[in-house]
Amino acid sequence: MHKPAAPALFFVGIPFVIVCALAFGQSLPIHPDPEIRAAMAWAFPLNPPPDQHASKPDMHKPLHVPGSTRTYTLADYDDMFGAPDWFPRDHPPMPHIVAHGRKPAWACAYCHLPTGQGRPENAPLAGLPASYIIEQVNAFRSGERVSGRPETAKGMPAEARNVTDGDLKLAAGYFSGLHYKPWTRVIEAATVPKTHVAHWMLVPNADGAREPIGNRIIETSTDMARTELRDTRFGFVAYVPPGSIARGAAIASQGTGAAAACESCHGADLRGTGTIPPLAGRSPTYIVRELILFRTGGRANAAAEPMRQEASHLTLKDMIAVAAYAASRKP
Ligand code: HEC
Ligand code: HEC
Repeated sequence: MHKPAAPALFFVGIPFVIVCALAFGQSLPIHPDPEIRAAMAWAFPLNPPPDQHASKPDMHKPLHVPGSTRTYTLADYDDMFGAPDWFPRDHPPMPHIVAHGRKPAWACAYCHLPTGQGRPENAPLAGLPASYIIEQVNAFRSGERVSGRPETAKGMPAEARNVTDGDLKLAAGYFSGLHYKPWTRVIEAATVPKTHVAHWMLVPNADGAREPIGNRIIETSTDMARTELRDTRFGFVAYVPPGSIARGAAIASQGTGAAAACESCHGADLRGTGTIPPLAGRSPTYIVRELILFRTGGRANAAAEPMRQEASHLTLKDMIAVAAYAASRKP
């Protein structure tokens, strides 16, 4: 059974309305073909407008997650200059920019979590090379990297313009020093829960209805209440089409003919090499979203050139397969 997520809808709603407004105006340089456009519905989930008639939840009720002695309230979740930190012993002390931000820059951990594990709608930062983190934030800042379709609420470009170089260096050092942990269970399935978009991700419908998976990845939570409390010990589940993992393994090790083997650059088991980022164990929705962005010119910094070539040679089915395989690997 999935717990109702109504309060969560309310509390992540307000800050993200602001984010949405800030992100407006971006667009993809290359118009995506119909297959890719269809995939954007699940790879770039777009929140419906907030329900003006929803009853307001109690902002001061104490909230808990299993195994933590800490207490937060919904009011804490409305503050983008702070981040709930249920398990402070699970990570080293956070630099100020990560835990609290520095106005107008928000706390990195508000979106990417104190553990840097990230959520499907943003990105996992734990264990990325520090130089890669700095390069990507600079690409968001210059506009060479966008984060989605114009209407998708993504705050990263605004954040990149607001963070100082000194704070960025501290944040990059912090996240690159964290060990990325298994966070998404990848399951091949012919049928999946019917979902709708809320909290910027796919959420199973309350009636438990199912439907064929089709050419999609359905990455979701088995307990939205815990996910929306940002419980850093509770990850995600990703349903992928039957046969994708084996197909993706072949693409990763041998390529597709036109596209080079992913492992030739991303290393054995896709664990990353030098400044090339690791893919193993990471959100498959994020991986497909980035492949789409490379292909459509949404990631146009100089270092992205090999990936733009690579992504232009992959079909959507290839992207799904290779993302399923990568996500199923041990980080
Ligand atoms: C409002 C939410 C939000 C905040 C706050 C935020 N980010 Fe992000 N960040 C995102 C989203 C969303 C993406 C993914 C964009 C995409 O889909 O390409 C992202 C992506 C990134 C990436 C790219 C990761 C990769 O693998 O290429 C880096 C690096 C990053 N953020 C660093 C930071 C740092 C450092 C901070 C704090 C100074 C920060 N972010 C604060 C939302 C946020
Ligand atoms: C020729 C080398 C090369 C090959 C082959 C290659 N990659 Fe990459 N990949 C890169 C580089 C370099 C980057 C970093 C781009 C940047 O710095 O902007 C990258 C970045 C990525 C990212 C973004 C990761 C993040 O954290 O945002 C994804 C996803 C990705 N590659 C997937 C793949 C897949 C899947 C394949 C195989 C189908 C593949 N790559 C093959 C070089 C390569």
